[in-house]
Amino acid sequence: MPQSNQLARLRESSPAVLPSLLLCDFGNLEREVRDLEEAGVQGYHLDVMDGQFVPNLSYGLPIVEAMRRLTDLPLDVHLMIVDPGKYVRQFVEAGADVVTIHREAVEDPRPVLEAIRAQGAGAGLAINPPTALKEIQPVLSLCDLVLVMSVMPGFGGQVFDPVALDKLRTLRATLPEDVLLEVDGGVNEETIAACGEAGAQLLVAGSAIFRKTDYTAALSQLTRLAAPIAE
Ligand code: DX5
Ligand code: ZN
Repeated sequence: MPQSNQLARLRESSPAVLPSLLLCDFGNLEREVRDLEEAGVQGYHLDVMDGQFVPNLSYGLPIVEAMRRLTDLPLDVHLMIVDPGKYVRQFVEAGADVVTIHREAVEDPRPVLEAIRAQGAGAGLAINPPTALKEIQPVLSLCDLVLVMSVMPGFGGQVFDPVALDKLRTLRATLPEDVLLEVDGGVNEETIAACGEAGAQLLVAGSAIFRKTDYTAALSQLTRLAAPIAE
């Protein structure tokens, strides 16, 4: 499916809880995908770490390719790597529908965001908790997605930093409606409602799903809590 349709699909399904596969059982990836899809997931969040931009290594292109073979759902690839521009084409060819780079990983995000779009994928830009919104404001018109980190990236299972909520609120009030707003890190039963209220449309959850045995129950509870209560 063309990536632009996948972006539209993510917009239509929002608010959507996207499982971060970091904590899944990679020895049984096919079964994990089957169980998650039976539980009703709307897309996947794939965390690529290089041991340089963040102090941890995860996985790269082969897992994105494997996921592409296993699912038609949108693949949201979060690159926590230095020099992300070098790998954009390969990640899109591997099957990424959205490629998100970090503001902190590049001097100028502009050419990389443009390259992602030129490859036909959605362009995402992430900011870490200490990074101010003014660092991304000039390039927001090149973004299809903005990812507000609510932990310092690198590891699953960290504690949610509420600094993300103010950023989400400000961004939601100023971003064009078709730009997706995502939050990642420490999103769980206690924190997800505040994220939804603050305007997050894609809510990444790792431990809040994979440390549970019943994915259906975990996902339906998180999804219910993520939807802002109608006035
Ligand atoms: C953090 C990653 C997240 C993380 C989410 O470096 O980008 O996607 O794995 O995991 P939880 O939900 O456990 O914080
Ligand atoms: Zn992530």
